[in-house]
Amino acid sequence: MSVREPSDRYLSPAEAKRFYDRLGSAQDWQGFFENPAINEMIGHAAFDSAHSVFEFGCGTGTLAARLLQHHLPADARYAGVDISSTMVSLAQERLKPWSEHARVSQSDGLPRIQEPDRSFDRFVSTYVFDLLALDFLDQLLSEAHRVLVPGGKICLVSMTFGASPFSRAVCWGWQRLWRFRPGILGGCHPIELSDYLRSEGWKPDHQTKVTNWGITSEVFVASAG
Ligand SMILES: C[S@@+](CC[C@H](N)C(=O)[O-])C[C@H]1O[C@@H](n2cnc3c(N)ncnc32)[C@H](O)[C@@H]1O
Repeated sequence: MSVREPSDRYLSPAEAKRFYDRLGSAQDWQGFFENPAINEMIGHAAFDSAHSVFEFGCGTGTLAARLLQHHLPADARYAGVDISSTMVSLAQERLKPWSEHARVSQSDGLPRIQEPDRSFDRFVSTYVFDLLALDFLDQLLSEAHRVLVPGGKICLVSMTFGASPFSRAVCWGWQRLWRFRPGILGGCHPIELSDYLRSEGWKPDHQTKVTNWGITSEVFVASAG
């Protein structure tokens, strides 16, 4: 279900930065619907054999800390970026125990990734693709492909469309509110990740939907060809 929305519906990078600078640590409150889908992604991304992880839109660093503490080999490298200075400070503080091999930096809000070609074996992004405009996503996906080693995995979780009557009703209300005032929702709205990852450059490994509290998330893990 590809929805091509007018580009002025999406938050500009400056608007996204303002929203997430204000939201700060309250972002973690959304764990009540995000965590089951994030668990599903972790379960299918083989982090135990990863050497280097790049995260786009790392928020407060919660996922990074979890990966470093429980799932990645002790010598794995982590690099996260976020447009929000508040989020970057929170993530840097949280990742202090791993400061020798984990770094978090503030991005300029553009899809360009300031990392060399083929320098990571996982590219992770959770609940970020659903706030980005289509042309931004196209560029970001080609950047993800560029920084991943061949066979490296893209590991995504995003808000998507529900199937049950209740989750479809939640989606309908959410989408209406997003069209009316996307800023209230931090720019997030339901999308289908598979619409963006159709290119031959990606080989799907695992794709599923998880609904919690009426909000449906899509989990998509694919390998770079
Ligand atoms: C809904 S939050 C999700 C945060 C985290 N990934 C999580 O799952 O809790 C979206 C995050 O994307 C960041 N973000 C939004 N637009 C961005 C951009 N253009 N570049 C980098 N980060 C961005 C926000 O600052 C925010 O931290």
